[in-house]
Formats: sequence, structure tokens, C-alpha cells
Amino acid sequence: MTATTYNPGKGEGSPVGVAILGLGTVGAEVLRLLGERAGDFERRVGGPVEVRAVAVRDKSKPRPGVDPDLLTDDAFSLVEREDIDVIVEVIGGIDYPRRVVLAALKAGKSVVTANKALVAACGAELSDAAESTGADLFFEAAVAAAIPVVGPLRRSLAGDQVNKVVGIVNGTTNFILDAMDATGADYDDMLAEATRLGYAEADPTADVEGHDAASKAAILSGLAFHTRVTADDVHCEGITGITAEDIAAAKAADCTIKLLATCERVKGEDGTEGISARVYPALIPRRHPLATVRESFNAVFVEADAAGRLMFYGRGAGGNPTASAVLGDLVAAGRNKVFGGRAPGDSTYANLPILDFGEVTTRYHIDLHVDDRVGVLADIARTFADEGISLRTVRQEGANPGARLVIITHSAKEDTLRGCIDALTDLDAVLSINSVIRIEGMDV
Ligand code: NAP
Ligand code: HSE
Repeated sequence: MTATTYNPGKGEGSPVGVAILGLGTVGAEVLRLLGERAGDFERRVGGPVEVRAVAVRDKSKPRPGVDPDLLTDDAFSLVEREDIDVIVEVIGGIDYPRRVVLAALKAGKSVVTANKALVAACGAELSDAAESTGADLFFEAAVAAAIPVVGPLRRSLAGDQVNKVVGIVNGTTNFILDAMDATGADYDDMLAEATRLGYAEADPTADVEGHDAASKAAILSGLAFHTRVTADDVHCEGITGITAEDIAAAKAADCTIKLLATCERVKGEDGTEGISARVYPALIPRRHPLATVRESFNAVFVEADAAGRLMFYGRGAGGNPTASAVLGDLVAAGRNKVFGGRAPGDSTYANLPILDFGEVTTRYHIDLHVDDRVGVLADIARTFADEGISLRTVRQEGANPGARLVIITHSAKEDTLRGCIDALTDLDAVLSINSVIRIEGMDV
């Protein structure tokens, strides 16, 4: 963890040159706040923070209040500039920002990024580049925007053992699920509402398919468990299959459905420790603190040995909240440029194995459409018993034709559950399997 180059600092009162890459929702707010609060930033950093360039894709776009002399469409031209100390990357995507950020770090520029996809995919490479030149790499805004969760995991909890991090880390999907819960409406209608209100992007795939949350889960797992974790290590399912009937069934079980990012330290059967990182929609009891997270808000729940249970809550998206986190990192990076040294880099010493998803243990809510005749319930119960899965509750209601059976299981392994679902599918009495949704948070 020793940087090969020590940064001695420019000295108190020296200006810190900043380049902002990207001037969209987040970049524009960062630039505005830096201008409006220049005096505060100077005092907090130890020298004036001067924006010396802004990279955009299209220089011809109207950008009221922005000095056109700052603009360039060539971000690469900024990374070698002597007068730039810190690069703020708020472009998004992976390939292009990866190349620019790597070049910047190799040139000794500190980097502040809000780009979860980049950090989740290329964190190790970026961290090594930062290490090699003594530059800082900060990414608080990449997970849950304004909510300080990266810093607490990286610094405040560095002396503790974190066992679990579970969070609602995607505002778009929380808005949709919350609106479905509140109104009883279907997924498509609430996605349209989220789009109309500007929560969902024109292409909502990354949000609704869970990829955005999976990137955040990878970052949280890496920090919590001192292990390199990428988005590919995270089992990921989105919310597109959640129906109004699923939400109503959750309500009947005194639960709600949330898209959860769960990062867990787990022990295998042979006692070896590993990590489970997963994103999927899950039922959680209404008494669980995460059930109270409404609209597009985010929250992250952490369980650690000594600290116990902690919850972080707030705005996980939007220009202003995200700029808050970016600027906090910029102050830290700027101070290090002025006074010397660098923040602790990635700690990946534990190098824990990633558990196969089939080994994950949880509870399940299973909604079946079945024939309504003698022996059907017994056949279904036997199928669960044969797979070694214990049932917690069974509720039956008329479906005309047949019956609807809603079963809640005790804990079982994913692999075992899948075997059981296959066996249920083969039963003549099972007309359809309407849904299988996991249940989390029963122990809170
Ligand atoms: P955005 O509104 O789409 O803005 C992207 C900006 O990047 C635009 O100004 C665009 O230039 C610029 N850009 C695109 N390609 C470029 C290139 N090749 N060279 C230079 N500039 C280029 O994106 P955003 O919402 O601000 O998000 C930025 C980052 O923050 C993403 O990584 C995102 O995941 C992350 N983030 C966003 C939020 C949020 O709520 N928006 C929250 C947390 C994290 P033009 O203006 O010329 O098009
Ligand atoms: N699209 C994300 C969300 C915000 O809906 O939470 C950026 O991480």
C-alpha cells in the first residue's frame, strides 16, 4: 500500500487547478457550486480552487453562465496540463472515461469520479495507477450520491469487521416499486410515471434491470470486505417482472417489495469465509427500516461487529445531491494537493472468494396456480419436503378455475430452491408458477 511517489504538497495558499470532465446534470452543479462558494472552498482546501477547463462532447451547445474559454471537446488534452491538479470525471460510461482517468492518474492528477460503472468495472486498474503516482482516487458520489457511505466504509469502519451491507441504492426502481405499492398500479404504468417525472432515463435499462445497483453493490462489497469485487461478481436481477399481484401478495404478508443490493460475509459448509453480492427484488417486512424508504430515496444498512447496526439515508441521485458528494471528495483531494500526502488507497488484503449464487441461503415467497382437488396440497408439500425445504406459511384462495397457493418457506439454498421449482413445474396439479420472490430482513 506504499505509493511509489510521495506527494509533498504545493504549500498552503497555493491554488488547486481543477478540470471538470462532463457538464451535464452533475458537472453543471459542481461548476456552479464551486463558483458560488469559492471563498469557502479556498478556506477548506487551504488554497483557491480554480476551475481551469471543462470537457464536453459538444462545445456548440448553449451553456448559460459558463465561460466558453474553459470549454474543450478533447478531455485527453487536459490530463497532461501542468496547471491541473485534480480531474473531476462526470461523463459516465466505461471505455472513454477509463482511458482518460487512467492517463490522468498516471500523470499524477488526483481523480474524483461519480461513475459507478467505471469504478465497479475497472477499480483495481485505476487504484493501481493512483498508487503508482501517489495520486488520490475518490468516488463517494458513485454509490447513493449524497449519502456518505463510501467514506464511512473506507475510513470510519476500517477498524471494525463489517458483516453485511444491504441497501436500496437505485432511486428510479425505488420510485417505481413505491408507487406500485402506494397505488396498486402495474409496473408499466409506474415506469411511465417515473419517466414523466424525470426519475427514469429515456433508456431505463441500467436501472430497471439492476445493473446500476449491481455496480454499486460491487463497490460496497469491495470496501466492506477488503476484497476486489467487480460488477460481474454480483448476481443481478431487475424489477421488470414484478407485477401488481406480487405487490398485493407482499402486502398480504405484511411486506413490501424493494430492489435490494445485498453484500454479505458468509461462511461455507467447510467453514471458509466468502462474500455474497447480489441484487434482486425482495420482500421485506414493513417493520424493517428499509421498508420506510419512499419515492426515489436511497438507504444503506450496515451491520458490523463492534458498531452494530447503522443506517444511512438520503438522496441517491440528482445534480445537487451528487455534486455534494463530488465536492466533498474534491476538498479532500485539494487539501492533499496543498498540504501533501494522499488518502488511504484500496484495501484488498482479505481477498475473500465470491460465493457461487447457488450457495446463497434465503427465504422465498412462491405464488402458484394449482388444481383445486384432493391431494394437491399434500403433493406440493411433499415436493418441498423431498427437497429438504421447510414451509413457514401456506395460504390458499380460490382462483376459478383452480386455486392460488402462496407459500412462504424457511431458509433454503438457491440451488435447492431451483430444484424444488423444477419439481413443482413437473407436477400435473401445478398449472403455473406465478412468481418466486426472495424474502430478506426477517431477522431485523
Ligand atoms: P449527463 O447529464 O448525461 O452528462 C454527461 C456529460 O458528459 C455531458 O456534459 C456530455 O457533454 C459529457 N460528455 C459525454 N461524452 C463526452 C466526451 N467524450 N468528452 C467530454 N465530455 C463528454 O450525465 P450525469 O447525469 O451528469 O452523470 C455523470 C456521471 O455521474 C455518470 O457516471 C453517472 O452515473 C454519475 N451519477 C449521476 C447521478 C445523477 O443523478 N445524474 C447520480 C450519481 C452518479 P455534452 O453536454 O456536450 O453532451
Ligand atoms: N440512475 C440512478 C438511480 C442514479 O436511479 O438511482 C445514479 O446512480
